[in-house]
Amino acid sequence: MTDSFDTGKAVSQEDALRPPMVTVEIAGKSFRVPAGITLMKALWYTGHEVTRGAGCLGGFCGACATYYRTKDDPKVKTCLGCSHAVEDGMSFSFAPAFPARKATYDLNKLENPKQDLFKLYPEAPLCRNCNACTEACPQQIDVREGVWKAVFGDFKAVSETFMDCVMCGLCVPVCIADIAPNLVGVYASRAYGVREMEKPPGLFDRIQAIADGQYDDDWDRILKMTDDELQQTSATIKS
Ligand code: SF4
Ligand code: SF4
Ligand code: FES
Repeated sequence: MTDSFDTGKAVSQEDALRPPMVTVEIAGKSFRVPAGITLMKALWYTGHEVTRGAGCLGGFCGACATYYRTKDDPKVKTCLGCSHAVEDGMSFSFAPAFPARKATYDLNKLENPKQDLFKLYPEAPLCRNCNACTEACPQQIDVREGVWKAVFGDFKAVSETFMDCVMCGLCVPVCIADIAPNLVGVYASRAYGVREMEKPPGLFDRIQAIADGQYDDDWDRILKMTDDELQQTSATIKS
């Protein structure tokens, strides 16, 4: 025997297929968008033209720095818009480009990278420990600690601290000492990589071999391959 069908509770096929919706506020205007989509997709869904801020769409390039606030919470938070989901009652806007000063340098010509930090970024030692940079970082990096490590010359620790930095720049506008912590981090990490880190010996041999044309024939062969040949060759190499 089958249960009787209660027509009063029936849901139309159209309603069953329709995704649950939430209300969000984008740059001050209210929209209904499907629950669970990313903030970036919510922009596209609502017809916003995204001419700046869309890059990798995978949480790696830092192009989609976003400010957001959740329902009834006054605190403005940060995230990467391509990898953060909408919530009902949320309000968000993409972060505008911030005109941080970027020093220019040739790492191979610097006399003493640890001292040169103070010429290139003289504001770095003025950090006031407010921790706003760390709170603003969507990658949960201890940015304040990274700046201090740079000032004290521990460039190895800086490179490890900033390993997950995606250069979204959200730590910069919040700094009361006008430091661009991400740029300080990049400088110290590069200086460590170029001037301090022990290089794998095979790396230079391989670079030289490439420069000497040892792989030119292989490149010619690869560049002439069809898509199928490329796939077969790559499958053979993997196995
Ligand atoms: S350190 Fe700064 S630039 Fe890097 S991910 Fe964090 S907020 Fe973005
Ligand atoms: S926001 Fe600026 S002053 Fe505050 S802890 Fe970070 S680097 Fe230091
Ligand atoms: S678009 Fe690259 S991190 Fe969001």
